[in-house]
Amino acid sequence: MAFGYDEQGQPSFLPVSSPYALTTTEVGRTVEDFAIAADNAVAAGFDGIELHAANGYLFEQFLNPLVNDRTDRYSADLMQNRLRFTLEVVDAVNARIGSQRVGIRFSPFGQISDMPPYRDAEQTYLQLGRELADRRIAYMHFMDQSGFRVASMSGRVSDEVHSLLRKLRPMFDQGALILAGGQTLAKANELIALGTIDLAAFGQPFIANPDLVARLRNGWPLAEPERKTYYGGGAEGYVDYPPYRNGRALIAD
Ligand SMILES: Cc1cc2nc3c(=O)[nH]c(=O)nc-3n(C[C@H](O)[C@H](O)[C@H](O)COP(=O)(O)O)c2cc1C
Repeated sequence: MAFGYDEQGQPSFLPVSSPYALTTTEVGRTVEDFAIAADNAVAAGFDGIELHAANGYLFEQFLNPLVNDRTDRYSADLMQNRLRFTLEVVDAVNARIGSQRVGIRFSPFGQISDMPPYRDAEQTYLQLGRELADRRIAYMHFMDQSGFRVASMSGRVSDEVHSLLRKLRPMFDQGALILAGGQTLAKANELIALGTIDLAAFGQPFIANPDLVARLRNGWPLAEPERKTYYGGGAEGYVDYPPYRNGRALIAD
């Protein structure tokens, strides 16, 4: 099942077609699709693009050796083969828009969409870090699903993700490391002060706090998002939370 719009145009969970393995030629075309999309994004005025290699989507289906059952040059028997699709896309996109406009998002150790845990996950992401450092992309963005699952602003970072970030830091020193998932201002400041990350990203707190940046900057209290309105498809619970105080200056902050 996937989230989409039904025949009446109503948002709902819909049955999807059965997935099939791309042929080797189709993988090449998909690489090219990403390059074209990146070009289009920059032509439309975006500063850059983020490749979404997290949360069980296509890139992770190549990276995870327990999901990847290919037998071609993208197969799981060699780590370099599992990484090949991701690195080919990065190379193609870099060639089109320049590596400083490219970031990538990962969720190591995450199990969304039934991604099974595997033994050399840390090694996989360290190797990716080395390869991406060589390619001089702008940033690596990690989504820690444990923090995301527990609660918005739980401040929890899993030991696995923390340890990975500490090991990546010295090898990925020219680009930024970003962490998302259950972040709090205090935790973000602590991790930045330790040099573990350069930036923290927030998701859910923005839903309930349209003026989140001003609230964090000024120490104002945060509103809690209503989880039951997530994925509702309408405006309710997404765009109707008020700012902390009414006033143009605050919103413009
Ligand atoms: C309502 C909602 C829907 C989301 N949908 C997706 C999605 O479709 N794909 C995805 O990769 N991440 C999705 N995310 C995760 C966000 O992209 C982001 O990584 C996450 O919210 C950051 O953690 P935080 O909310 O704890 O700050 C979603 C998050 C929320 C709250």
